[in-house]
Amino acid sequence: MDKRVNHHGFPMEILQQTPTPFYYYDLDVLRKTLDEINRLTADECCLVHYAVKANGNPHILKEIKSHGLGADLVSGGEIKAALEAGIPASMMTYSGVGKTDWEIRLGVENEIGCFNVESIPELEVINEIAGLMDKTANIAIRVNPDIDAHTHKYITTGTADNKFGICLEDLEQVITLAMKLPHVHLKGLHFHIGSQIVEMKPYEMLCDAANKLIDNYERQGINFETINMGGGLGIDYGHPDEHPLPELERFINTFKQRLNLRAGQQLHFELGRSIVGQCGTLICRVLYVKENRNKRFVIVDAGMTDLIRPALYEAHHLVHNLTSRQDEVETYDVVGPVCESTDVFAHDCRLPITRRGDLIAIRSAGAYGESMASTYNMRALPLSIFHSR
Ligand code: LLP
Repeated sequence: MDKRVNHHGFPMEILQQTPTPFYYYDLDVLRKTLDEINRLTADECCLVHYAVKANGNPHILKEIKSHGLGADLVSGGEIKAALEAGIPASMMTYSGVGKTDWEIRLGVENEIGCFNVESIPELEVINEIAGLMDKTANIAIRVNPDIDAHTHKYITTGTADNKFGICLEDLEQVITLAMKLPHVHLKGLHFHIGSQIVEMKPYEMLCDAANKLIDNYERQGINFETINMGGGLGIDYGHPDEHPLPELERFINTFKQRLNLRAGQQLHFELGRSIVGQCGTLICRVLYVKENRNKRFVIVDAGMTDLIRPALYEAHHLVHNLTSRQDEVETYDVVGPVCESTDVFAHDCRLPITRRGDLIAIRSAGAYGESMASTYNMRALPLSIFHSR
């Protein structure tokens, strides 16, 4: 294989031969991230579940499985994908406020590791379905600890205004019920306060809240087998080359140091973005460069249907021109072809002089990129290409 790379380190052969737009995944970055997770969780009390919603591409799931991670799932489709990838059902957690009956049946039938329960009616339905199947479902209660993760409001999940989890004042009632129901086995507590969290402060507050609950229930004779702290660790969207790996050590140590886990108690995580975010790049081609009265637009052949994050969350992704090496730079808005004004990848982006036919890279797109792609405007879904050196 031709080993030449362009000035941003992308393989020339792939750039020349792949029709755009496509997701380019650097498996070396993914494997390094997974190796780092394995190094940090080598002790038996710690298990990371990969949040499949971040990227359910079968090649990615294969890497996750081969590195021995569990899976965090939010739908029957994701349960099936994780089973197909060969991830053991015992290493699966299943969250979501709206689990349907068939999805619950699928989880019970396969004896998944844990249902993260988000309401009393859901708890009752899981008990009923498991009873009809002559099984017992493992469950954890998802607690809404009312902690603000200080991230974008669309990806905050742990405050009292969010639909997720059970609020602290109702917890006692739910736990009492869970202990009584014959077809559920209460394994633990689950938390997830939001996504793209870059400060450890919200996680420290979360540890303090969890410690209080662990102490309180221990006094009542309830010892949880698992404490699942969810995911949410952020990545450096501004500097993917300087920080290809997330701050996993800082994240995991925050919990190891601040949580008062009991002997034998398992510490679980559900990480998505931090595992796959930096290994993916959306590569597209410039169709036109267009000048309006106040703006210069670079119009590319990828759009919000391929990567919706900038349109939906005003998310910032670094953009490079992979073709032009001119010293002279110009300010452009990099936009897609979709008939929506929010179909913009970057506002006022400084790029070398850009022309029709140039290749453009939109970085840090491995998480919530391909998995959120749609066919709006009857567009095709983007291709994906995997590379390792
Ligand atoms: N666990 C639960 C229960 C979750 O809801 C999520 C993400 C995760 C774990 C994984 O979180 P992560 O480690 O990836 O931050 N589409 C948005 C992000 C939505 C996150 C939804 N829940 C985005 O593109 O920023």
